[in-house]
Amino acid sequence: MNFDKSKALKPKSHDLIPGGAHTYAKGDDQFPELAPGFIERGKGCHVWDLDGNEFIEYGMGLRSVTLGHAYERVVDAAYLAMRNGINFTRPSSLEVECAETLLNLIEGAEMVKFAKNGSDATTAAVKLARAYTGRDLIVICEDHPFYSVDDWFIGVTDMSAGIPQAIRDLTLKFHYNDLESLNLLFEKYPNQIAGVFMEVERLEAPKDNFLQKVKELCHKNGALLIFDEIITGFRWHLGGAQKYHDIVPDLSTFGKALGNGFSISALVGRREIMELGGLRHNKERVFLLSTTFGAETHALAAAMATMKIYQSEPVIEHLYRQGERLIKGIEQSVQEHRLDGYFGTIGKACNLLFYTRDQNKEPSQPMRTLFLQEIIKHGIIAPSLVVSYSHTDEDVERTLNAFNEALFIYRKALDEGVDKYLIGSPVKPAVRKYN
Ligand SMILES: Cc1ncc(COP(=O)(O)O)c(C=O)c1O
Repeated sequence: MNFDKSKALKPKSHDLIPGGAHTYAKGDDQFPELAPGFIERGKGCHVWDLDGNEFIEYGMGLRSVTLGHAYERVVDAAYLAMRNGINFTRPSSLEVECAETLLNLIEGAEMVKFAKNGSDATTAAVKLARAYTGRDLIVICEDHPFYSVDDWFIGVTDMSAGIPQAIRDLTLKFHYNDLESLNLLFEKYPNQIAGVFMEVERLEAPKDNFLQKVKELCHKNGALLIFDEIITGFRWHLGGAQKYHDIVPDLSTFGKALGNGFSISALVGRREIMELGGLRHNKERVFLLSTTFGAETHALAAAMATMKIYQSEPVIEHLYRQGERLIKGIEQSVQEHRLDGYFGTIGKACNLLFYTRDQNKEPSQPMRTLFLQEIIKHGIIAPSLVVSYSHTDEDVERTLNAFNEALFIYRKALDEGVDKYLIGSPVKPAVRKYN
């Protein structure tokens, strides 16, 4: 396997694009030196890089491609829509059809506005919550890593350059499964908190009716509960992680899996709140998601085709099943190579991650980089273990064999030093203060 063409293109990509890519999570600092630099095409869960190397991919377009790359029924639906024009001076009837399809799936969601990115939807939710409550502060759950590219969230990360302190001061943080940390904020800022923003579940399951208690606390204090389902939507359950945990928020946001990789996201919620962005009220109007490209027909058609497949085929069951097989197979390799506590899977089977720790069992980026380097040698790209409907039993088997080989080297690196095995620099967190 060589990466000559990829290597040759890299300097140019960095000359032309800050960071060499349009998404930080795809950047060179996220992968080992011996990795494909550019992907040429994909089919199902397989991708081919610029040098013609083939890989089984995990992660799948930052978790957006749930069915598989170039999934024919979705591509055909989008193509058919495109042939009839993608953007007119009045809305397409597809906007209504797609709204109905989505709202039928999400309990308690009475209205929807579509957009292009998850961040558009989450930022719109923040604005709507502020307008509805007449308050400025937003509370986010700090154990969940990402909500938006916009200032209200990026301002409170390590990469807050360019964002005024005044904006950063409006976002507060609490901890998952720690109701008291939220209660303290409501006490400290009475009648000032517009909404509480959180994922329904990430690595840790809600304990002791936590979600229901958060909802009660929000409503007792006049704040809205907003669930970010950009990752969990259509993975945890057809009705979202909210359905999985049997709780209805005031607002929620969907993206990623909604269109199998096509650019479409959604803000959904209670009519009384959502209608502030509409024409049927006499209150002050809220500028709620209105962009030139907001409802392109092909993205709506792709989303409808994708949702139909989720409804008629066991897509979500498949994600759980293949995730479970990965968990089991990896555990066997971990035992075989005496790596208990050094390497392992975390998260839900439908949205699996792995951890890499050093000889002191501390989280280790060099060990992560080494692992990525070794699986790439065996034809696997897996910054996470997020599967799609296209990951077959055979793909998973091939992956487990590759992991077993990589974990053999991982053990040796723990015993002999990672520098002996790792080529190039370790990866770094995508959101950090300095290079
Ligand atoms: C939980 C969550 N919310 C929101 C977003 C933002 O979505 P987008 O990148 O489509 O703007 C992301 C992106 O990774 C996310 O993971």
